[in-house]
Amino acid sequence: MTDSEATIDALLSEGRVFEPSEAFRRQALWSDPSIYERAASDPEAFWAREAGRLSWFEPWGDVLRWDPPWVKWFLGGKLNVAHNCLDRHVEAGGGDKVAFHWEGEPGDRRSLTYRELLEEVCRLANGMKSLGVRKGDRVAIYLGMIPELPVAMLACARLGAPHSVVFGGFSAEALRDRINDAEAKVLITADGGYRRGQEVPLKRNADEALRGCPSIEHVVTVRRTGGDHPFVEGRDVWYADLVGDQPAECPAEPMDSEDMLYILYTSGTTGKPKGIVHTTGGYLTGCSTTHRAIFDIHDDDVYWCAADIGWVTGHSYIVYGPLANHTTGIIYEGAPDWPDKDRLWSIAERYGATILYTAPTAIRSFMRWGEEYPQKHDLSSLRLLGSVGEPINPEAWVWYWKHIGGERCPVVDTWWQTETGHILITPLPGITRLKPGSATRPFPGIEAEVYDEQGRPVPPGGGGYLVLKRPWPGQFRTIYKDPERYVETYFSRYGKETYLAGDGAKRDEDGYFWLLGRIDDVMNVAGHRISTYEVESALVDNERVAEAAVVARSDERVGQAIVAFVTLKSGQTGDRVVAGELREHVAKVIGKIARPHGIIFTDDLPKTRSGKIMRRLLRDVAEGRALGDVTTLANEEIVEQIRGMSTEASSQE
Ligand code: PRX
Repeated sequence: MTDSEATIDALLSEGRVFEPSEAFRRQALWSDPSIYERAASDPEAFWAREAGRLSWFEPWGDVLRWDPPWVKWFLGGKLNVAHNCLDRHVEAGGGDKVAFHWEGEPGDRRSLTYRELLEEVCRLANGMKSLGVRKGDRVAIYLGMIPELPVAMLACARLGAPHSVVFGGFSAEALRDRINDAEAKVLITADGGYRRGQEVPLKRNADEALRGCPSIEHVVTVRRTGGDHPFVEGRDVWYADLVGDQPAECPAEPMDSEDMLYILYTSGTTGKPKGIVHTTGGYLTGCSTTHRAIFDIHDDDVYWCAADIGWVTGHSYIVYGPLANHTTGIIYEGAPDWPDKDRLWSIAERYGATILYTAPTAIRSFMRWGEEYPQKHDLSSLRLLGSVGEPINPEAWVWYWKHIGGERCPVVDTWWQTETGHILITPLPGITRLKPGSATRPFPGIEAEVYDEQGRPVPPGGGGYLVLKRPWPGQFRTIYKDPERYVETYFSRYGKETYLAGDGAKRDEDGYFWLLGRIDDVMNVAGHRISTYEVESALVDNERVAEAAVVARSDERVGQAIVAFVTLKSGQTGDRVVAGELREHVAKVIGKIARPHGIIFTDDLPKTRSGKIMRRLLRDVAEGRALGDVTTLANEEIVEQIRGMSTEASSQE
């Protein structure tokens, strides 16, 4: 039995099954399991009922038009996303409720009510109009986690100008590519942002990017860090000067349900980022419904999604879903270990957070830092926890449940993608019996399956490809300016009606889904299909290991050989004996076939700024190749260190 199985078994034997507690179930918004059958019997009626919770200027006709692989939802309906997120709550008397508690990394704080947020959005929308922004124009946004970021997104939504938010950690080059692909007319940025006590030079990067961006006519700069910045006459304007005299009222543009709300770039298998296009009515229906049901949103909740708004998680679950549901949220600007490793817990305590939604990578960092950090704070306000972004290994799940959730908060492991717009596979916390490490079941109205190469459903226990078999309202409508790539990447393998998610998965005998990582991360070792994730999970299950990343190296003998990059917990030293022990541990957990051929101990793993491990670089190191593009790395220095060690590892076998 593995360490985490032993932990879970011990918990189960104490009677701690992960059933929703009676207390949770009693107060949950969704607690009747028949919702699954009801939604499955008529998914369109299910989603139409949910769409009816929004405010529409004009009603829709048909709920769905499906011309595979193209979809449209709520045809002919007219609405505005900013109006749904702000005006209607203020009009209903909810203007004094806090929309966001914001905390800057240096410790400055600001709370914005729904009324204040509405007024700020209107002022900026009017300012943007004065710069010539009209419905349909694209606006690029390159900001850190400050209140002006959601303000800018909502101002765009109000005018019907699709935004393209570029994560503040991206380089000038990445920003330039994205601005040019979208042909954005205006860029909204800041002089700088704070991260780990340092200033992120946003305006400097923007200026560098803009040397090659002919479409940009104006740059709006928020003053955050201060200091002098070169301004281009006629192009540049300070945010405060632009909004200062503007009226706090601005009509919300009636948008067609299928009008574009935003573009968000995400990486695919090739180098060129894909512009994922999301639209209005279906997207807002999907985000608000899933947010409300999965996070069980009540009026007095203080909800904290600790992602960055620059990624889809922040778009859907910091900005659009929560605001549509009139929720109070928390936004924190900086690093979780600044000035110390208890920063998140001090914020959660200060605002009385009731719900926390974060990523397994973050959870594993918290584990590595130790439970003494959360223990310094009163986290008893928390009642629900969420996880997103990667498969969560059971050990991290149990740690999160125990040390952050105090063994009383359900953990919802939510599977989705930039492309899907909102969560699709997830527990419902008042209904679902949880299994640590499983995202459990498709959300009501969603039909998912695991297929083999031939497109046959894989029996329980077997691995295959995750597919979605019918449309859902928030799905992306195309890749910006590249509809062929949309069809080719997602709708060619099993035909135009079946969405290929690009993830491996298996189902268990209860029908639960277990995500196995990207299909491009699946290794084939001596004819056996092994997910890098399964090996990583086995390694992390060992008590010495903090984090692990596994890649395949081509090998004459077995086709692909497994190389594991391992970060040990503090106080542990990596040597041949420990390497041998870890190899045996993996053999014990999965089978000898999965035993890593080489183990490389490293202080850290190369990660993107969103915290994803860059396996592509690790594969380059494992194969002894020149490294590919490292521009999206958050910690470049670690690559050199790992490269130096790779020889050692190869000789280990
Ligand atoms: O591999 C899956 C993984 O993240 C991918 C989507 O990444 P992105 O578009 O950046 O969106 C991340 C936030 C939704 C998926 O193809 N992924 C996301 N959530 C999970 C997950 N893998 C396993 N379990 C999850 N809960």
